[in-house]
Amino acid sequence: MSQTYLNILVRTEGRVGLITLNRPKQLNALNDALMDELGAALKAFDADADIGCIVLTGSEKAFAAGADIGAMAQYSFADVYKGDYITRNWETMRSIRKPIIAAVSGFALGGGCELAMMCDFIIAADNAKFGQPEIKLGIIPGAGGTQRLPRAVGKSKAMELVLTGRMMDAAEAERAGLASRVVPLDKLQDEALAAALTIAGYSQIAVMAAKEAVNKAFEGTLADGMAFERRLFHALFATADQKEGMAAFVEKRPAQFKHQ
Ligand code: HXC
Repeated sequence: MSQTYLNILVRTEGRVGLITLNRPKQLNALNDALMDELGAALKAFDADADIGCIVLTGSEKAFAAGADIGAMAQYSFADVYKGDYITRNWETMRSIRKPIIAAVSGFALGGGCELAMMCDFIIAADNAKFGQPEIKLGIIPGAGGTQRLPRAVGKSKAMELVLTGRMMDAAEAERAGLASRVVPLDKLQDEALAAALTIAGYSQIAVMAAKEAVNKAFEGTLADGMAFERRLFHALFATADQKEGMAAFVEKRPAQFKHQ
């Protein structure tokens, strides 16, 4: 692939396209530039007849620790609503017709957990930690966390995770049905690649049809939920608590929420 990316690494292995999120110092925090590149790389693989399956991964410490809080901290409601900031290009994932496997090690938090859930299945390393900690920042998940997590793990566990911000480890994620399986950290890349090579060896048409059909079962009324969630997510940028929650994170101090 000729295109140069700054925030992701892209390579191929046989008929598999591999994308590695690559902002390690920020624990792969997802900013608009990264999401633009990810969208472009996914579209390029989707259009490439020599690719049959895609693997998305991060670093050992973090698949992705969420949307970039530093980039979001000063946004107003007008900014995010008019500019579609933060949420831009996330829906590109859903337009990809070839399977995408998330190979998750380390933190998959907030938008990182949501990104993993947008993939077709998740293989987790034994050090993986999943969570939706947005509530601690004075916001809620904004890329499907309130919609996909309940579908994946049931209402009770999803509600607990979204309301408390608690992380769950890989074993709990597998038990709950979020991860298809857990593998040792040092085997994660090999296992994900092996699964992807298997899939890429099957009929591309059957694979695409299988993906489409399973998603039909899974995504019944997702569109309404997503639209609702997007409005609420953007609206929370009108609150003082969002400013305080994000400022506190940036300044490395406890947040003092005023509930307004
Ligand atoms: C920006 C981040 C970040 C993030 C970590 N960093 N997460 N920067 N956005 N989401 C940065 C830290 O500021 C720090 O930078 C460096 O990465 C290493 O992180 P540490 O906190 O020092 O590491 P550690 O102590 O190991 O803690 C790891 C962690 C913690 C538990 C994952 O970083 C954390 O709680 N991160 C925030 C997680 C979160 O709230 N995610 C949800 C974001 S909201 P420096 O420069 O100090 O070294 C969201 C909305 C989704 O995702 C909307 C989708 C549309």
